[in-house]
Amino acid sequence: MMKKNKISLYIHIPFCESRCHYCDFCSSVINEKEVQKYTSYLKKEISLYQELLRASEIESIFFGGGTPSSIDEKYISEIMEEIYKFKVFKNPEISLEGNPNSLTYEKLKIYKSLGINRISMGAQSFNEKILKSIGRVHKTKEILEASENIKSLGFKNFNLDLMLALPYQKLEDLEISMAYIKKINPSHISYYSLIIEDGTNIKKLYEKNRRIFPNEDEDRQMYHYVCEKLCQMAYDQYEISNFAKKGFESRHNLSYWKLKNYLGFGLSASSNIGKKRFTNTSFFTDYYQKLDHNKFPISFSEELSKKERISEFAIMGIRLNKGIDLKEFSNRFSIDFKNYYKDEIKKHKDDGLLWVSDDFIGLSKRGRDLSNIVEVDFIK
Ligand SMILES: C[S@@+](CC[C@H](N)C(=O)[O-])C[C@H]1O[C@@H](n2cnc3c(N)ncnc32)[C@H](O)[C@@H]1O
Ligand code: SF4
Repeated sequence: MMKKNKISLYIHIPFCESRCHYCDFCSSVINEKEVQKYTSYLKKEISLYQELLRASEIESIFFGGGTPSSIDEKYISEIMEEIYKFKVFKNPEISLEGNPNSLTYEKLKIYKSLGINRISMGAQSFNEKILKSIGRVHKTKEILEASENIKSLGFKNFNLDLMLALPYQKLEDLEISMAYIKKINPSHISYYSLIIEDGTNIKKLYEKNRRIFPNEDEDRQMYHYVCEKLCQMAYDQYEISNFAKKGFESRHNLSYWKLKNYLGFGLSASSNIGKKRFTNTSFFTDYYQKLDHNKFPISFSEELSKKERISEFAIMGIRLNKGIDLKEFSNRFSIDFKNYYKDEIKKHKDDGLLWVSDDFIGLSKRGRDLSNIVEVDFIK
């Protein structure tokens, strides 16, 4: 039998209970009729890819959003049924993103029965004033309750999303966060620094009242504090913003950073298949219309040249604390990385931003703060 190619699947659920002030992800406030319609089109989109899926073995699945836990679990079940028509790896990683107030015990139990084995919950902060200021609809108490539900049902693979550089946030808040993390003890943590996106309410707040936001120095100080404390708590920082207990790195996220094959379904979802990159439309009407005509709902696609793929591999790989895998690079491109980027490596190594070993090249502690400077130089 022909060997199947490994693939990861991303399913975008563009619904939330309400919109947070900082977020510009593709999502709208939940509407039952729209969810029903969207699910049926998602299933159609999956079936349009049946040829590729039949030739593949699914390694990981990620329900992201939006807030997948905000919709009725019957829709997640319908989508999983569609996916299970294809060959899924023996021990897949199947993640679902959720919010504290919709990750109920009953829902989580159903997710478990569907084979979902990793829960990623958005907590963002444990400070009520901060949660309110960024438009979160949950309280700290609900983070703790949902965490208990997740753990009591035996989800060992459990991620918490948290944020830095939020309004009113001080180093002392992070000390409190560390105590909560110790208590909850998730196996994975993503700590993102706030990006102030155009058109969001937080941008307006920032323009009006900049002094309630930490400045860049304070942001870096908080980031270093978090890295140090999480490391002391046995979390390995395996990517700039991601920390995991041993063996709990996200296989799905690693497939993005290592530029493996992944296929995204639903609004705004991106795919990477071989040399091709493509992204779906972000508009419901366009999505439905294209699928009504049996067309892929793609709004942008490109085929990368070898030079572009090399740069992409370097930029993604450098974010990993293990660094860029030089052997993998030479297997993929038949080029010696150290030779190809000779000048760039020398410059950043001399400046203390890069470390170089026989088989890997990575960012130093200072390099992680200035990763943009290194990344730009990897674009040739
Ligand atoms: C798209 S959300 C989905 C998860 C879920 N809906 C939630 O809100 O918890 C994924 C994560 O991205 C992060 N995020 C969203 N907008 C961000 C921004 N503007 N800056 C930094 N992180 C952001 C948050 O930590 C969030 O949990
Ligand atoms: S952060 Fe999560 S819950 Fe908030 S609007 Fe974005 S996707 Fe929705």
